[in-house]
Amino acid sequence: MTQELYQQAMKFAGEKHSNQKVPGTNSNYLLHLSNVAMEVLIAHTMDKTFDLDFALQIAILHDTLEDTATDYQELKITFGEKIAAAVQALTKDDKFLSKKEKMMDSLQRINQLDKEVGLVKIADRITNLQTPPDHWDQQKITQYLEEARIIEAALKNKNEYLHARLNLKIMEYEKNLSRL
Ligand code: NI
Repeated sequence: MTQELYQQAMKFAGEKHSNQKVPGTNSNYLLHLSNVAMEVLIAHTMDKTFDLDFALQIAILHDTLEDTATDYQELKITFGEKIAAAVQALTKDDKFLSKKEKMMDSLQRINQLDKEVGLVKIADRITNLQTPPDHWDQQKITQYLEEARIIEAALKNKNEYLHARLNLKIMEYEKNLSRL
């Protein structure tokens, strides 16, 4: 059942990310993961045309390969190949040097998989488009906004509700520029 899959993924992620904070805060990283999962859950109440169990698990596990010592085999053994492949697509490949190349490569790999993978990427960016940390300068905020627009353009057809919500968040985030 969905609830048990959620708990299993959260337990795994909780162990893996146990020493990680949400950047710039004192909050444990599970805050970020639960916010992404929440976006997916609410999106499913609006539009049931995607696999909730699949999307929820990758939402919770999406940063395990990038940010923790988890490896692909471990994910595959614990959650299956489909979920491991999805998390892999959501992970930057360090063979690329620039941040932008890493993102474009990941978006391309995301687009080769089921729509749930792209949907989680959108939910992740929605979650991250909150008020930027105080130490971010104008350039960094502009760059983050630009990245969000690239994600929006690359993942248009994954989920109408989340896509609209991402556009709203981008519009709201733009206000952080004039505030400076
Ligand atoms: Ni994330």
